[in-house]
Amino acid sequence: MPAVSRAKIMPNNSNVHDNPSPRPAEPDGSLTRIRTILLRLASALLLTCALLAQPAPNDAAQGEKLFRSHCAHCHGPRGEGGRGAVLATTAFRHAADEAALLRIIRRGIPGTEMPGTPFSDRQAQQTASFVRSLGRAAAETRPVPGDAARGRALYETKGNCAGCHTLSGRGQPVGPDLAGIGARTGAAYLREALLDPSKDVPAGFLQMRLTTSQGRRLTAVRINEDTFSLQVRDLSGNTHSFWKSELADIQKDFGKSPMPAYGSLLTPSEVDDLVAYMVSLR
Ligand code: HEC
Ligand code: HEC
Repeated sequence: MPAVSRAKIMPNNSNVHDNPSPRPAEPDGSLTRIRTILLRLASALLLTCALLAQPAPNDAAQGEKLFRSHCAHCHGPRGEGGRGAVLATTAFRHAADEAALLRIIRRGIPGTEMPGTPFSDRQAQQTASFVRSLGRAAAETRPVPGDAARGRALYETKGNCAGCHTLSGRGQPVGPDLAGIGARTGAAYLREALLDPSKDVPAGFLQMRLTTSQGRRLTAVRINEDTFSLQVRDLSGNTHSFWKSELADIQKDFGKSPMPAYGSLLTPSEVDDLVAYMVSLR
């Protein structure tokens, strides 16, 4: 800064002396002018320093932007949870402190769907502080409507969910295991999973329709496939192995789920109850 101020004063100073005005020199006048200039420079300097002292100008905005582009599609724009965990919380299961949070953001959580993101230190910090701000805002979020105990009963009875899902070792493994689903995902995602199961089919649950060379038909979920063979699980939970040469037809229903859309099978309040039950599975 001093170099700049001096450079600015110099030309003004020399103007004063080079001034070809016939007026007699007024030492007091030029002194006043210099003082005014110095005062202006000083206030400009103060303003600059005040601006620099503010928390790095766009950090908060930048954190939000990074979150929207890299995280919101899984965690929800306000961290309300979705395909990924609820982040609008003050206590993370995987991140006890700031260092752990930064590590999760950059490296992901091995063995889960949480990916690492190749952020710089600065970007990771900006994102982390935005994530923290979501937790502070969490107090305002509405609790999930519905009754978890009623939802649990529906799960066993009318919903027949255990016919296709395992939970605490019970049920058939046609769909994903639902243990801890409330901690891994959010209410909006779970509601959508019930009402529109085909919208977001998790990796590893490809629905297939097979016809054997004897004309037997089977709808199933793929477990394994290679060039010559195929292992599937039917909707009763039984596994089947085929040589592809034994099959007359193989249809892969990408983006289709064997799970029924429950909007037509359950009342809206029953859907609320089931969502509340799943949210409670932590
Ligand atoms: C592909 C989806 C996906 C993306 C993208 C994603 N996450 Fe995740 N994240 C998850 C899932 C799923 C979990 C829960 C993992 C588990 O516990 O099984 C998770 C967990 C977390 C956790 C730990 C929560 C806890 O309670 O411990 C944090 C923090 C987190 N994510 C932050 C982020 C941030 C920040 C981004 C963006 C840079 C991001 N995630 C991007 C899916 C995602
Ligand atoms: C006919 C078998 C079947 C039935 C019955 C069924 N599901 Fe599913 N479900 C699946 C399959 C297969 C998937 C994976 C593909 C998808 O996401 O639709 C799935 C996915 C889900 C998911 C998403 C899981 C994730 O990790 O993303 C949830 C939540 C779920 N089911 C809950 C339920 C509940 C609650 C019931 C009972 C009301 C139920 N399901 C009944 C087969 C079934």
